[in-house]
Amino acid sequence: MSRRPLIAGNWKMNCLKGDGVALAEGIAARLKAEPPQADLLVCPPATLIDAVARAVAGTPLAVGGQDCHAAKSGAHTGDVAAPMLKDLGASHVIVGHSERRSDHGETDATVRAKAAAAHATGLVAIICIGETEADRDGGRTLAVVGSQFEGSLPPDATPENTVIAYEPVWAIGTGRTPTNPEVAEVHGAIRALAAKRLGTDGASRLRILYGGSMKPSNAEDLLALEDVDGGLIGGASLNVEDFWAIARSSR
Ligand code: PGA
Repeated sequence: MSRRPLIAGNWKMNCLKGDGVALAEGIAARLKAEPPQADLLVCPPATLIDAVARAVAGTPLAVGGQDCHAAKSGAHTGDVAAPMLKDLGASHVIVGHSERRSDHGETDATVRAKAAAAHATGLVAIICIGETEADRDGGRTLAVVGSQFEGSLPPDATPENTVIAYEPVWAIGTGRTPTNPEVAEVHGAIRALAAKRLGTDGASRLRILYGGSMKPSNAEDLLALEDVDGGLIGGASLNVEDFWAIARSSR
């Protein structure tokens, strides 16, 4: 089963309107001129989704949010609901990023509810899971990632409405990555768990991204691993050339 890779940029809390639109336009222009063997997605901050979606309308570059609330609307000051993202042109939303889990106390149950809200709205949920450095040092990586996977996937998850992003917390923004065999081991374990939830065929269609210090110099090796179906890229997604180089590294 060949899965089309997804190369997703997580801009985090970066970019004002001018920079964000220029970045998205730069990526969209490359994409149009030289279509890569991958789907491309950018996830700007919520404030820029409208401007970015307008700037790339009619190109294959998809736009997503970085988080959504579990409710469709209501008294939740400062939050953004999945239908609001969709209304602006988003097709995807990241949920359960480790920065949300740590900065906002999000649990697997919160993440599961957010993913279900995304699905109910017709958005693809990119569900993030990953161990801390203490987990890895303690030999608990597979146990932690496995329990996050089980706890964060809503019952209605399918390979079409869900993407998993394996992001070791200690690799995010640090320039450090697990070794290729370590990444392969975790991705293989996630696919085996997915087979129990989605069946063998479903699991074989599920995209599992790697995230955490992916950059042009390591992307080709990481993306060549059997069960790595793309990347969730933070720092290197803020530069057209770097993001493009990663996109072109995908098989
Ligand atoms: P990084 O971030 O590429 O800057 O390590 C990845 C992420 O947090 O999604």
